Amino acid sequence: MKTYRLALIGFGNVGQGLAEILRDRGAELAQTVGAEFVITAVSDLLKGSVYDPQGLDAGELLTAVGRDGTLGSVVTPGSGWDALETIAQSNADVVVELSYTDLATGQPALDHIRAALAGGKHVITTNKGPIALAYPELADLAAQNGVCLGVEGTVMSGTPALRLGQELLAGAGVRRIQGILNGTTNYILTQMEGGATYAAALAEAQARGYAEADPTGDVEGVDAAGKVVILANLLMGEALTMADVRRTGISGLTAEDVAEAAAAGERWKLIGSVERENGRVQAGVQPVRLPVSHPLAGVSGATNAITYSTDLLGDVTLVGPGAGRMETGYALISDLLAIHRTTDA
Ligand code: HSE
Repeated sequence: MKTYRLALIGFGNVGQGLAEILRDRGAELAQTVGAEFVITAVSDLLKGSVYDPQGLDAGELLTAVGRDGTLGSVVTPGSGWDALETIAQSNADVVVELSYTDLATGQPALDHIRAALAGGKHVITTNKGPIALAYPELADLAAQNGVCLGVEGTVMSGTPALRLGQELLAGAGVRRIQGILNGTTNYILTQMEGGATYAAALAEAQARGYAEADPTGDVEGVDAAGKVVILANLLMGEALTMADVRRTGISGLTAEDVAEAAAAGERWKLIGSVERENGRVQAGVQPVRLPVSHPLAGVSGATNAITYSTDLLGDVTLVGPGAGRMETGYALISDLLAIHRTTDA
């Protein structure tokens, strides 16, 4: 049995989702894959920091935060470290970077990931900011230090969109990737087709926890553009940046636009795409009217979907959740399993 020690930087929804999975399914995972994952450090800006080199009890962490909103009641040999101290001084093999997402600067996550990789620790993250802004640099740094950088949860949460493209379709000749990459906007469009107003549908998407803290990034297509950049970097080897993505959101779509499309047997979807054409890679995010027979037109609510157009297989479409506490927590488990496969080989 191999043991991996984890330091969680951030203990919000996703960190708690990971802790819940480890609490409830850790024993089953150990039996199935021959590896156990033990949290030894948590550092959260608001909830506090705890460290026990022998391992923290995931259930106790969750109970404390559920009851008090902080980790203050958890008694441990160490406490009070900030993120960088935790990365430098804990005994973790894997740093789980879950601080807040900033698609403009990538910070503070970018510095956390740089420090962890340079210190020879594996990093797994669901944070789109640093990956959309600096993937080539971070991937190089990981390679130089002989460690893994796992980013599955940055696109479609735990639905294995990146691993499917990067590993299983790597030899199939991926020419174009198109997808519904943002749950909030797909939820809004679906609700509007059912007669809801834009404002009511957005409020509902916020209440259900799909939207980013500032939903402007969802409705204006910035979140989807970040995911398009990640797809281009990871799956097409193109160091595209946010500025390379032509972007239009859904805030300009009216109830009349939605009704008009429905009357013509079509549906509006916010489509992110990246395509190689004549050697050049084009990327965009825009609302598109699709015939209802199109595979992506049938994807409703907060569900995401991605279609890989390949030379050898034609179109391959993957549909699944793109957000959520357990769904994104699972992305981290899949990255941990990938580290185990790599390092245990
Ligand atoms: N706000 C995002 C969405 C969350 O609605 O899809 C997942 O990245």
